[in-house]
Amino acid sequence: MTKDAATNVVPEGVELVYDGKTVELPLVEGSEGERGIDIRKLRAETGLITIDPGYVNTGSCSSAITFIDGEKGILRYRGYPIEELAEHSTFLEVAWLLLNGELPTEAELAEFTTEVTRHTMLHEDFGRFFDFMPKNAHPMPVCAAAVGALSTFYREANTDERVQKAIVRLIAKMPTMAAYSYKHSIGQPRMYPRNDLDYSSNFLYMMFGNPCEAFQADPVFARALDLLLILHADHEQNCSTSTVRMVGSSQASLYASISSGIMALWGPLHGGANQKVIEMLERIAREDGSADRFLNRAKDRDDTTRLMGFGHRVYKNYDPRAAILKTTCKDVIERIGGSSELLDIAMRLEEIALSDEYFVERRLYPNVDFYSGIIYQVLGVPVNMFTVMFALGRLPGWLAQFLELRRDPANRIGRPRQIYTGATKRKYKPVKKR
Ligand code: ACO
Repeated sequence: MTKDAATNVVPEGVELVYDGKTVELPLVEGSEGERGIDIRKLRAETGLITIDPGYVNTGSCSSAITFIDGEKGILRYRGYPIEELAEHSTFLEVAWLLLNGELPTEAELAEFTTEVTRHTMLHEDFGRFFDFMPKNAHPMPVCAAAVGALSTFYREANTDERVQKAIVRLIAKMPTMAAYSYKHSIGQPRMYPRNDLDYSSNFLYMMFGNPCEAFQADPVFARALDLLLILHADHEQNCSTSTVRMVGSSQASLYASISSGIMALWGPLHGGANQKVIEMLERIAREDGSADRFLNRAKDRDDTTRLMGFGHRVYKNYDPRAAILKTTCKDVIERIGGSSELLDIAMRLEEIALSDEYFVERRLYPNVDFYSGIIYQVLGVPVNMFTVMFALGRLPGWLAQFLELRRDPANRIGRPRQIYTGATKRKYKPVKKR
């Protein structure tokens, strides 16, 4: 007997003995051979639940979008290695791939590009939304709020056709909203998107152009940005993607789900890490430039300092995205004809950490955020916009995961269990008698 093609259940099950009773639990196997125990009937048959804080060892779904082998440092979107996509593809092509499962034909890509390009403008009334935000607001919650607010401008995406429209709208309008939030924060006029520019050049134009002079996006910078977006496009069931799925599982709208994903990404242990990396490098540069001293602090259990941009829940080997970005980082710095003190410090930190017992033992390697912030800095992106850039990149992944969830007949509203550890039943006493 072989694996059941519809359910992925393999013939060998797992036996669990509890309270004198043997329960047979099915084993499922993915296309790369990874296996999981299906515990859905565990509670009904034994009264037991499983405990797994942080969902470190819990599969929440089956997915055909992204494959990661953290032990070997492998990342593939829809079967295509990230290294090949990074070298040959564009962000919009990767977005299509994630959403549709296959690479587009030339005609499909042209049509998708045209559609996205023609939906980049925001409703004029929507522009006023940004005016009401405080000037010093962090652009991440502004973007999350703006994405949520799109649901007040467009009809609820409750049919397949409307979901598809909303997907194009989001991919098209997110860069405009991100750039508007930045322009508002620096008091400059908003720049309308330009349909004659490619996705990344248009974003650079909206960010750094102004009505008083011509703006030409540097092609090396535009390509570096496109690459960053490709590398961030999906990463299977991480914190923000799981948030998108969790919110989507209640049949909340696409905009609500993506807006929640943006908020989840904001945290310093997730998408906020690239901002923290720059702050860390700048702090080291300000103090005495000593990578050793900083690493000692990161290793000290009594010190809460961590080597930001290092370590990953899944990668226990070099994050393949960090390897690509290290090269891109050198390319953009060469382009501006200079050197970078921050890059020098980052490379020194990496070199020492990779041969330090503490980091080696715990299998801590640079993650995607270790070098991305330095590239954003060279492009002129302010530090508080770094997470927004991450969100721009992650958007197609969130959308693809939302679509997959929507089409999954096994989808049920997300609702984990708990082990209650609070007070047992006690009698209420009115306040005067206490
Ligand atoms: N610096 C110093 N020590 C670290 C670091 C680090 N960056 N990361 C992990 N450790 C240590 C922990 O102290 C722990 O040590 P212990 O076993 O002696 O207690 C051990 O390594 C395991 O770490 P955990 O926190 O248990 O690992 P977890 O999988 O929960 O966390 C995480 C992963 C959050 C990414 C963590 O490595 C971290 O905080 N890194 C820095 C922040 C960062 O770069 N985040 C970006 C992640 S990538 C992304 O979201 C795009």
